[in-house]
Amino acid sequence: MDNITNPKVNDYIIDTLKDNQGILKEIEDYGYENNVPIIKKDIASLIEVLIKMNKPKQIIEVGTAIGYSSILMCLASNKEAKIKTFERNPNMAKIAKENIKRAGLSDHIEVIEGDAIENLKMIDTEFDLLFLDAAKSKYMEFYELTEPYLKKGGLILSDNILHKGMVASDDYVIRRQKTIVKYMRKYLDFLCQNDGLQTSLLPVSDGFAISYKL
Ligand SMILES: C[S@@+](CC[C@H](N)C(=O)[O-])C[C@H]1O[C@@H](n2cnc3c(N)ncnc32)[C@H](O)[C@@H]1O
Repeated sequence: MDNITNPKVNDYIIDTLKDNQGILKEIEDYGYENNVPIIKKDIASLIEVLIKMNKPKQIIEVGTAIGYSSILMCLASNKEAKIKTFERNPNMAKIAKENIKRAGLSDHIEVIEGDAIENLKMIDTEFDLLFLDAAKSKYMEFYELTEPYLKKGGLILSDNILHKGMVASDDYVIRRQKTIVKYMRKYLDFLCQNDGLQTSLLPVSDGFAISYKL
């Protein structure tokens, strides 16, 4: 199972949503042409709406890739948000920094290069929104390292939570993905059963969780 949504419904949604313009369009096109796994239009539009509603001032992103989602989030906040984004692949981090500079957002977005499991330990100030879009088996660890600094009323956005449907049903699980599935199910159970969070799980794109800190 490659796609958790009906392909015709998905195509309609992607075709109907407004296209990016300018530098975001250029980075999006580069991402698709070079197989960089950037967020799709449906997730991008959902994040834009959530940012407009929640108005975060400080954002932590895990998984920068080429900087597409961090630039998108910063622009959605009307450049009101400061973003710290974590990326372990040096080549990706380099391209992200170049793209952020070209977008004129170097004063707003800081790329922190290296494994986020190590680097997230440097966080010592409060923030409003956590966006997880990196190694799927590490979401619980990313959460534990950052949650103490997430303000009440803040959001945790977790992407790719259904992993091509494998997380939802063993019928779709490929043998070598069993560990990721196990960790993701544990993380989603934790988010949904946690009395300090209000969580919604959505079958959008590859699955997306929105958690609100009570
Ligand atoms: C799905 S891509 C991020 C896409 C990006 N958020 C966007 O939509 O524009 C995931 C990225 O997370 C990075 N990554 C995976 N595990 C990581 C870790 N433990 N620490 C830092 N970066 C990690 C990968 O190198 C990859 O570039």
